[in-house]
Amino acid sequence: MILVTGGAGFIGSNYVIQAITRGNQKVINLDKLTYAGNLETLKKIESNPYYRFIQGDIGDRILLPEILNKFQPIAVINFAAESHVDRSIHGPGEFIETNVVGTFNLLESVRAYYESLSEEVRAQFRFLHVSTDEVYGTLSPDAPAFTENHPYEPNSPYAASKAASDHLVRAWFHTYGLPGITTNCSNNYGPYQFPEKLIPLMIYNALNKKSLPVYGDGLQVRDWLYVGDHCDALEVVLRNGRIGETYNIGGNNEKTNISVVKTICYLLDQLSPRKDHKSYIDQIEYVRDRLGHDRRYAIDANKIRKDLGWSPQETFETGIEKTIRWYLSNPDWVHSVISGSYREWIAKQYKH
Ligand code: NAD
Ligand code: DAU
Repeated sequence: MILVTGGAGFIGSNYVIQAITRGNQKVINLDKLTYAGNLETLKKIESNPYYRFIQGDIGDRILLPEILNKFQPIAVINFAAESHVDRSIHGPGEFIETNVVGTFNLLESVRAYYESLSEEVRAQFRFLHVSTDEVYGTLSPDAPAFTENHPYEPNSPYAASKAASDHLVRAWFHTYGLPGITTNCSNNYGPYQFPEKLIPLMIYNALNKKSLPVYGDGLQVRDWLYVGDHCDALEVVLRNGRIGETYNIGGNNEKTNISVVKTICYLLDQLSPRKDHKSYIDQIEYVRDRLGHDRRYAIDANKIRKDLGWSPQETFETGIEKTIRWYLSNPDWVHSVISGSYREWIAKQYKH
């Protein structure tokens, strides 16, 4: 039995579906169901006897001890977070509340539970904290990719809040012996990603005759990883990772934003051509840049490859085509997650 937090979001739901489908793990999924959490995603496993959903906040110091004591998980995987950089610029408060204070409260609940376990069970217990490469800050064009030893230099409120949470996990290991492991992953893409992030937003806008808003000059670089590969890496870290360590996870797929957007356009031109036979490229529009926009991220994933034998299965080319085909086949999912608050967010973020 494992406790997954934030398992109704993008990466967490992919992880939960994968774990339940493989049939080797019972999963309790605790999620607050913010705008980013969608039970629609989990419909196909909701009645599986190995799966149970509980709505709640990682910071709830009454609910968490109840769940931990009742279900006695052997591991906690913490995906729960506010995750969108642009939203953190408009309103950093919720990011501090969930990512910093929430992680602190979760660690305290888990620590009390961990201390109540027998020595034998404690030896197996893990707290896996899912974090991001954004904690390392930005890279110049020729700088080597981020290793686990790169200094923390977060630049956005989101990145700073995740950096703080990583530090808490580290301190709870060193001070209290809570067996934490932190992973720092690059940009994910794939099924069930909320259409506020670059790739699903571009697919949705293209198909709905809206403009494709590229920030600044579009030459910022991100290192893309297919979400299924991230979930496999987390599984490997959970089973074989060393406590107190951090592992970088990345796909070795550095791309400029404009090249990602053009790739999406060319694939859509083939898979779902516009009625007027023009290219989706015509919908690209350069818009004002994100404040404090990090120029380049790149992950050096040698440690997890060498120590734990993980490497990604998908290239960017195979992963992006799979992703586009998934969005084309699942318009109902997109419609179900787009609420009034989604439309308010888009109007605020992309107003001229
Ligand atoms: P997401 O925004 O899609 O999902 C976050 C989930 O957490 C949602 O289901 C939301 O309802 C839930 N949640 C939010 N606050 C909560 C709280 N207080 N208590 C319980 N649940 C809460 O995020 P994602 O893209 O799936 O990211 C998951 C994790 O992975 C995050 O910690 C993020 O920082 C990290 N990460 C994301 C990426 C990426 O590219 N998306 C890359 C590296 C790391
Ligand atoms: O690097 C890992 C991080 O990747 C995760 O920790 C975050 O949770 C996740 O949201 C993601 O952060 P980014 O800010 O890199 O992702 P986003 O999809 O928001 O943007 C990717 C790039 O595309 C970034 O350089 C900004 C740009 N962009 C984004 C949007 C939404 C645009 O040019 N136009 C847009 O409309």
